Amino acid sequence: MPDNLVALVTGANQGIGLQIAKDLAAYGFTVLVGARHLQNGEKAAQSIDGDGRAIQLDVTDQASIDSAADRVRDELGRLDVLVNNAGIAHAGKRGRSLAEIIRTGRASVASLDEVRAVFETNVFGVIAVTQAMLPLLRKAPAGRIVNVSSGRASLTLASDPSESRRREMFGVTYSSSKAALNAITVAFALDLEASGIKVNAAAPGFTVTAMNDFEGRHTVEEAAREPVRLALLGPDGPTGTFSDESGPIPW
Ligand SMILES: NC(=O)c1ccc[n+]([C@@H]2O[C@H](COP(=O)([O-])OP(=O)(O)OC[C@H]3O[C@@H](n4cnc5c(N)ncnc54)[C@H](OP(=O)(O)O)[C@@H]3O)[C@@H](O)[C@H]2O)c1
Repeated sequence: MPDNLVALVTGANQGIGLQIAKDLAAYGFTVLVGARHLQNGEKAAQSIDGDGRAIQLDVTDQASIDSAADRVRDELGRLDVLVNNAGIAHAGKRGRSLAEIIRTGRASVASLDEVRAVFETNVFGVIAVTQAMLPLLRKAPAGRIVNVSSGRASLTLASDPSESRRREMFGVTYSSSKAALNAITVAFALDLEASGIKVNAAAPGFTVTAMNDFEGRHTVEEAAREPVRLALLGPDGPTGTFSDESGPIPW
């Protein structure tokens, strides 16, 4: 067994995931930098100050997930922290503008193929990766799972007539996938309560990354703070919550 705590961050070759990986490495973790294209993961791992190791992991490919779990077991023996960060806002070409993402996600026009593809990554991928990593999380003394959600998942805020911008952005593709992710967070938290493994959802805020075609209000450094805080929760920390840096977000 390694001396260091061990973390796996999915989709860590760029954006918020890479920053989460850097922050956890700075806290002394051995960080597995999940990337669907290994070369991108290797490049990202080299930019980490500390023990960052690239690992091939496509969250929509069960064979890839299983071999990642085998590698973690063989190389490190346990997993202390799993950050389910990998996500997509749409299934089209890179560089779709935010306005276009919102327009194509509207309930009345969204392509069902695109909805399925987004759920495959943002929802089913999280269930698959979490289930595959659970035996390793159970071997850790205090396993933690952080699901990177979005403020856009909040059904309560989207139902509030005073939240006009949120209502405009609430579509059937990305927002609903993150609402489903929140439901999954609660389901895992309940199922794992007796084990002491804590499962929480973090909203990073509107952040300048490739996902938004580099629009946003937050830097990746700011966006990583809440997921990292939840990854480091002590024994008295909560489980089954949804929060950003300012505190709880209504479901
Ligand atoms: N940016 C925001 O404003 C914002 C706001 C709220 C929540 N979030 C959430 O934050 C998380 C990170 O997003 P980001 O903003 O950092 O976007 P990003 O820069 O586009 O990063 C997304 C990451 O997910 C990876 N990914 C996509 N599909 C994957 C798959 N099937 N298997 C493994 N990895 C996959 C991408 O890999 P490739 O490089 O290979 O594409 C990339 O590393 C996402 O869950 C997103 O929904 C972002």
